[in-house]
Amino acid sequence: MSKLELDEYKEQTEHKHEYLKEYLPVWFYILINRKISNNIKYNNIIYVDSFSNAGEYKNGEEGSPIIALKIFNDILLKNKDKKVRVKCYFNDYNEERIIHLKELIEKMSLDNRIKVEYDEITANEHIKKVMKIIKRYSNKKVLFFIDPYKIADDIVSMSNMKQILEDDDTEIIFNHMVSDVVRNIKEYPEKYKNFYRLDKNLQKSGKEFNEIFINNLKKEVDKEIYTASYEFLNTKNVTIYFLVFITHHPRGYEKIKEAIWRVSDGDLQHKNKGEKNNLNLSLFSDEANKKLKKEKREINIKNKVEDLKEILINEFKGKKVTYQDICKFVVEKTIFIESHIQRKTLTPLQEEGKIIREGTNKVNSTYIFK
Ligand SMILES: C[S@@+](CC[C@H](N)C(=O)[O-])C[C@H]1O[C@@H](n2cnc3c(N)ncnc32)[C@H](O)[C@@H]1O
Repeated sequence: MSKLELDEYKEQTEHKHEYLKEYLPVWFYILINRKISNNIKYNNIIYVDSFSNAGEYKNGEEGSPIIALKIFNDILLKNKDKKVRVKCYFNDYNEERIIHLKELIEKMSLDNRIKVEYDEITANEHIKKVMKIIKRYSNKKVLFFIDPYKIADDIVSMSNMKQILEDDDTEIIFNHMVSDVVRNIKEYPEKYKNFYRLDKNLQKSGKEFNEIFINNLKKEVDKEIYTASYEFLNTKNVTIYFLVFITHHPRGYEKIKEAIWRVSDGDLQHKNKGEKNNLNLSLFSDEANKKLKKEKREINIKNKVEDLKEILINEFKGKKVTYQDICKFVVEKTIFIESHIQRKTLTPLQEEGKIIREGTNKVNSTYIFK
């Protein structure tokens, strides 16, 4: 093994990996089982990690490339009949890290449908290179994981983000490190100017920078895109990053949101707990812990669903709309999913006298928002 100094595994990294572990199996499983049209299947599944790191952290924790490979490999082993090619493009501009990653991967026994390519170039060069290569593939789906430490100096350029999204078959998971921007933009505005297209008024919150980024993307990419952001805060309640999921497809968007709701337990922000401390847990029995978790989840979901009630009232006030109209709006334009609409939102709104339902079958009914 090389003499590389591996990174410390931080809580924020662990949490980010929980999302990968939740979303990647869903993404992969759907692709190997879904048909594009009658007789055509996706036969090229491509996963790109342009900021791979070494595949391992200081105490042996797994990095994102290893997490992804294990997920793909396990699913392929259970699906021996699927004729699919899985191509992974891993890159880090730190050569030592790629050497380490390669050594780790060579020790894994991977299904022969998986192929891995490595590069040690800048992420911007890597994205351009991969975009050129993948033009050759047909019936493909591509997921880019873009996970830099910072945003400064166009470490990933807006034009590359756009180029990725000009292709119909791509999705992005972007670790948007807004803490870097909030901390440094006033002193070094030129380092962020291209990415956010900002000239003045640089004093903004992490949330605002994330909104600016998403609005710019929506404006500049010619195709329709759907985004879902998950916020990660430190112990002082300062946003460190947003994990931003970007896709072209409503169905993919729904799957992303379901994964976010599952990991986040209904709380769309994660607060860093600081030092790991198992004391709290050991004070309670497993049963009591489960109950606490469930109660917390119910409180969070309840809070969030209160938000959805407000959102629907603002959108439809004074209007008569069908369930399908409501569903389309919620699924395409909000972080909420279809299962949040009926029992958790429309029924309470009806009970509170804020809407009137016309019709007996809930899904075929029309709703009047007062
Ligand atoms: C946050 S770490 C990636 C973590 C990894 N994706 C994971 O989840 O395990 C960022 C990595 O980007 C690499 N890096 C920094 N600047 C880069 C650049 N301009 N191009 C490519 N890699 C870069 C660093 O060497 C570091 O390994």
